[in-house]
Amino acid sequence: MTNRNVLVLDTTLRDGEQVPGAKLNTLQKIEFAQQLKRLHVDMIEAGFPASSQGDFHAVQQIAKKVGDQISITALARAVKSDIDAVYESIKLAQNPFIHIVLGTSNIHLEKKFARSEDAVMQMGVDAVKYAKTLLPEVQYSTEDASRSDYEYLWRTIEAVVKAGATIINVPDTVGYAVPEEFGDLIRRINERLKNLDDKVILSVHCHNDLGMATANTLSAIKNGAQKVECTINGLGERAGNTSLEEVVMGLKVRENFYGCTTRIQTKEILQTSRLLTHLTGLDVQVNKAITGDNAFAHSSGIHQDGLLKDKNVYEIMSPEEVGGEKMELILTARSGRHAFKNAVERMGFSVTNTEEFELLFEKFITLADAKKEVYDHDVFYLVTEHLNKPQSRGHLYELASFQVVTNDQYPTASVELKKGSDVLRGSSIGDGPIDALYSVIKTLTDLDVQLTHYKINSISRGKEAVGRVHLQISCDGKTYTGRAMDTDIIKASAIAYINGINAVILDQMELAENLVEQ
Ligand code: KIV
Ligand code: ZN
Repeated sequence: MTNRNVLVLDTTLRDGEQVPGAKLNTLQKIEFAQQLKRLHVDMIEAGFPASSQGDFHAVQQIAKKVGDQISITALARAVKSDIDAVYESIKLAQNPFIHIVLGTSNIHLEKKFARSEDAVMQMGVDAVKYAKTLLPEVQYSTEDASRSDYEYLWRTIEAVVKAGATIINVPDTVGYAVPEEFGDLIRRINERLKNLDDKVILSVHCHNDLGMATANTLSAIKNGAQKVECTINGLGERAGNTSLEEVVMGLKVRENFYGCTTRIQTKEILQTSRLLTHLTGLDVQVNKAITGDNAFAHSSGIHQDGLLKDKNVYEIMSPEEVGGEKMELILTARSGRHAFKNAVERMGFSVTNTEEFELLFEKFITLADAKKEVYDHDVFYLVTEHLNKPQSRGHLYELASFQVVTNDQYPTASVELKKGSDVLRGSSIGDGPIDALYSVIKTLTDLDVQLTHYKINSISRGKEAVGRVHLQISCDGKTYTGRAMDTDIIKASAIAYINGINAVILDQMELAENLVEQ
């Protein structure tokens, strides 16, 4: 019997982005969507356009930039204005579809809608009928399906399929399901759905509140699900969503059991995971399956001995299969342009402009002089930092120089910033060196921002590790992130703060441009 293909929808930019602290700006979302394209996901849920002007704009940009090869969707509640917002934001993609969500459990009917079963079902049917006037493909999600009365759930599915829904998505919204029960639910729905209309795709969407999202999703696949919704690193509401890498590798490693494949380029998995960590600042737990730092590390003597004799003794998949070999290359200041270019290209970046490459190489040499050993990890951050540099430099701040003197009485910071051809200088004292530094930068930039979160950690191995700072600032009720890395943690802190301030400025510029476009 030939293997069955399972479609993979990535919802990191919608469900994943609902996580506090995971908010990305439009440029970051596009960058991540481009990596999802390299990963070969079949569909991207790019956002919830009715939620804000910014989200609408980001979904629209993703549809334009990657919608030529990947099917794009976005979320709508079962109301006309949400459906219109989805349609308007995704219509330029080659293969767009509208995703409508509406609850089916008693608790949703009684507490959320205070309406009868029939009234809620009618809302769903009307929403699908309206969406079908805009696009041929419509996905309907029966929110909280795993806690719904089965017969009502089925009646809803039947009604929305008759109204034109082409994908039925069955969510375990609150992570309540267990694998045997969820698999059984999917089998029962699948049997009836195939009789009703065998062209309709059956999909699942699980949450990880009991740590069973991957198991539930795999069980659903075993029982007939043709499409799965996942996020990278399992990011998502509360305990997160089903992790894409776990399901994909589960199907690959246990193909003999599941008899299913996906189109995912597994060699891009680690890269995608690292990019997401870099963009959101949310670290992956070290022992997380597939993407954790220790996922392929064997520490016990017995295991190392076994591995040396034969890898298969303790390894069910190789790190290379998920792009892991990229991590082991060590560069030094003597590595030269060719080795550096090779490392950059193996990580999926292409720097064709010679001037741009020379700038990058200069930065690499500075890092290699400071660190002695440069891992691919470091190169990755170096390149993404460099490529992230916005075009609009004249409007943004750059750190020209700084000095921090710390003691237990008056920690003091002096800073020189550049903005286009302007040079701004100032000094300040603070409760500590970082506080003094941030106080002077805030005064110089004259923006009313508040630091709400600050985190520093080491991002690479070795004694000369690079420090990475990830912070959040708020301005006018919105949250912005700033990141930076450097072997000098005070400098990384200053640059991260300036990057956060630049994010505010970019957002204000983007908003102004949107207003002009309208
Ligand atoms: O968890 C959920 O039910 C959802 C739906 C929108 C699919 O995210
Ligand atoms: Zn969800």
